[in-house]
Amino acid sequence: MRIDVITLFPDLIAQCAAFGVTGRALERSLLSLHAWNPRDYAEGNYRRVDDRPFGGGPGMVMLVDPLRRAIQAAREAAEGPVRVIYMSPQGRRFDQDKARELAGLERVVLLCGRYEGVDERLVQAEVDEELSIGDYVLSGGELAAAVVVDAVARLQDGALNDAESAEQDSFQDGLLDCPHYTRPVEHELGKVPDVLLSGNHAEIAKWRREQSLRRTLERRPELLDEAPLTKADLKLLDA
Ligand code: ADE
Repeated sequence: MRIDVITLFPDLIAQCAAFGVTGRALERSLLSLHAWNPRDYAEGNYRRVDDRPFGGGPGMVMLVDPLRRAIQAAREAAEGPVRVIYMSPQGRRFDQDKARELAGLERVVLLCGRYEGVDERLVQAEVDEELSIGDYVLSGGELAAAVVVDAVARLQDGALNDAESAEQDSFQDGLLDCPHYTRPVEHELGKVPDVLLSGNHAEIAKWRREQSLRRTLERRPELLDEAPLTKADLKLLDA
């Protein structure tokens, strides 16, 4: 998979992706990541990328043309259809389903805004989809794009070791993850639950499922409306 990021701060994206699982996915060529700086496509001595908003008000708005040229350069840098995504607090909420959807695409362009945002005409003409990573306002789309890159990179085949398997991740089955423990068994902060030491894999799986269900009910009950629950799950929740 190839991800192109349109950003005034290309180093920020590169640094965010250089470590851990994303770094490894890049090294293994499971993912390629390229940044395009709209300033390189701006005109004039000042290479202006923004201007004041029509209608007045605070802040600046990113100009159509430098962004449009940068997106065009990214489109032309490789073959194949491209999904252009604008990272913005006005977008639909990014979640694990969306991460899985994007991870299945060959090419994605992530457009990062700065200042008050991007001229709406550019959004209408070039953008397929707007995504938000949550209901708060960041100073730019770069950290949001880095979140998408990370979530999508770890879903590429071969990105995770067996020990890191995505199958047990939170949200993989629509529920929050269960708690995890490692050595020592006894610690002044508490003891590892007996069931995890029992070697009884069926009991362990049942305990983990129950913990996931309880956590989800306590912390994010709305997720249970969408999660595919079995009769056994409902019994566990009732107990
Ligand atoms: N840009 C600024 N805030 C954002 C957010 N919450 N999600 C995505 N992009 C953003």
